[in-house]
Amino acid sequence: MSSPAGTRPRVHVTGRVPERITTELEQDFELVDEPDAADGILALMSTTVDRAYLESAGGGLRVVANYAVGVDNIDLGAARDLGVLVANTPDVLTRTTAELAIALMLALLRRVAEADRMLRRRDPWRFSLEFMLGESLDRKVLGIVGPGRIGRETARLAEAFGATTIYAGRPDPLDDLLAQADIVSIHCPLTAETHHLIDADALGRMRPTAVLVNTARGPIVDEAALVDALRAGTIAGAALDVFEFEPLVTEELLSFENVVLCPHLGSATRDTREAMGMLAVQALRAVLLEGRRPPNTVV
Ligand code: DGY
Repeated sequence: MSSPAGTRPRVHVTGRVPERITTELEQDFELVDEPDAADGILALMSTTVDRAYLESAGGGLRVVANYAVGVDNIDLGAARDLGVLVANTPDVLTRTTAELAIALMLALLRRVAEADRMLRRRDPWRFSLEFMLGESLDRKVLGIVGPGRIGRETARLAEAFGATTIYAGRPDPLDDLLAQADIVSIHCPLTAETHHLIDADALGRMRPTAVLVNTARGPIVDEAALVDALRAGTIAGAALDVFEFEPLVTEELLSFENVVLCPHLGSATRDTREAMGMLAVQALRAVLLEGRRPPNTVV
């Protein structure tokens, strides 16, 4: 069903977006403050778009364009039931997110954040040959959990630093990766199957010298089990861009020197955020103005 003649489709945006994206939206759509009676929704990943939310939008809702590649904030089953298309923002953030995974790996292995904290505390120090030794990415085995676009790009970048890569995900078993990897880096989507994929058992299978990096979604890791593993020293460290109870960060994680923390910055460059926004705008235009299914549709 298209909007009545002479009226522009109504779009509700669930949070602040870059100015350029608002300008683009304003060209074609009437922007409305509430989701009810919207034809389309531009959803930030921090908005939970569950069945109740979709139903509250009323029967006219035709598309939810998620301002993210991950769609775990949306009830895809409910969207399917209600005939609402869901689009995401793949590809444009692949390199940027992979780059952050590498940044976290290097920060953790070379103790960059720890060293920065030390200097800010004004701790006394002087150069010495044994001072704050770290590990190189060179000749490490990088285990990619979830060999999708971002996982493969992370592997490609890590290989430039001399790492070799192994994968887990259908059909490659996780246990083999956990037993072999020096760095376990998570890149799979959050689904019912991957919730707490990295639990106490999985952490227990990692090498004591191995580290965990998560730039995917927080609830893939059981954060309480991670704290236990770090406390017991059964793994060597962790670098996290995402958290199980985001935006909350489990208190105990703050106390480990061998943990690097980042506030969900995987895709956070100006160019990438604009490119993601443009993809979302294109999805809204495709559905609401041209009556077609955009290529980046997940439901
Ligand atoms: C995504 O796109 O899923 C990121 O987590 C946020 O940009």
